[in-house]
Amino acid sequence: MAYRVALLAGGTSPEREVSLRGGEAVAKALKARGHQVRRFDPAQDLPELAAKAAGFEAAFLVLHGPGGEDGTIQGFLEALGLPYQGAGILGSALAIHKGLSRLLYQKAGLPVPPGGCFLKNEVSRIPGFAKKLGLPVVVKPATQGSSLGLSVVENQEDLSPALERALALDQEVVVEKFLSGREITVGVLGEEALPVVEIIPKESSYFDYHTKYTPGAAREICPAPLPAPLARKAQEYALQAHKILRLRHYSRTDMILVGEEIYLLETNTIPGMTETSLLPLAAQAAGLSFEDLVETLLFMALGKDPLHKGPHLAS
Ligand SMILES: Nc1ncnc2c1ncn2[C@@H]1O[C@H](COP(=O)(O)OP(=O)(O)OP(=O)(O)O)[C@@H](O)[C@H]1O
Ligand SMILES: [Mg+2]
Repeated sequence: MAYRVALLAGGTSPEREVSLRGGEAVAKALKARGHQVRRFDPAQDLPELAAKAAGFEAAFLVLHGPGGEDGTIQGFLEALGLPYQGAGILGSALAIHKGLSRLLYQKAGLPVPPGGCFLKNEVSRIPGFAKKLGLPVVVKPATQGSSLGLSVVENQEDLSPALERALALDQEVVVEKFLSGREITVGVLGEEALPVVEIIPKESSYFDYHTKYTPGAAREICPAPLPAPLARKAQEYALQAHKILRLRHYSRTDMILVGEEIYLLETNTIPGMTETSLLPLAAQAAGLSFEDLVETLLFMALGKDPLHKGPHLAS
């Protein structure tokens, strides 16, 4: 059955370009499956979407960062009565905030890097806190994505410019010990965790903006070459994070592996959908093409029995 889908991509967050690229890919996939797609850019098209909402069966969100992934647009769609894929208002608002996510992970016994979250008016406490953690530390805005505003601080004198960069984008900042290890990410689709992806940046010491969106700037290996029990543990952590943060349909949790220990960094509620994105790669390793993944998410939004609930149902 063909559905009329309002595809939301663009928006006003610094991740606008990434969103537009993902939106392009998702629109193509939906059309290839016979669905009717009309694109809306929340930067200017929300009044038009409100006026035309009755003409669509579902919305499909390819938005990242504040305004798109934080519950704002989710509340707008709830008010319009238009179903959409992914986390609802609460889950989106919790997961976008790395400081609060950290607290919830910890409460559930999931390991996080030593660190803390500070409001703008608490920054004077940060130099002492960073010293106690031990350099290098990571400084990041609490609610941005794509490594925007993120710095790895090696020397105490670099702390202040790093805080400025982060606080230019947010009211709150997360300061964490920089963990040197292997970078992995685990997608959840429906009730199941997808195969673990390992990311090996080729030039950078961490997964920065350039590495995320430049084809070839990192090696992405899926399934990650990990001993089976460790891979299962990472998958279990991703499922727990998904549950603790009250997420829905899908998510992707980023982690750092130090020896046999896994530390959670954050959970994305609208994972990237560009040609270099990690969730589509993990879905593919589980037997779902990009089109399968997109259509599965559409069916989840519609509350229909998805074609593919998870990797073991893919065949
Ligand atoms: N505590 C840490 N130790 C080591 N590396 C870190 C740490 N925190 C962040 N990083 C590095 O910075 C990258 C981005 O951090 P994080 O995933 O927390 O933020 P993000 O910008 O929201 O990411 P996304 O694009 O997935 O939304 C990580 O993928 C990792 O490479
Ligand atoms: Mg991340």
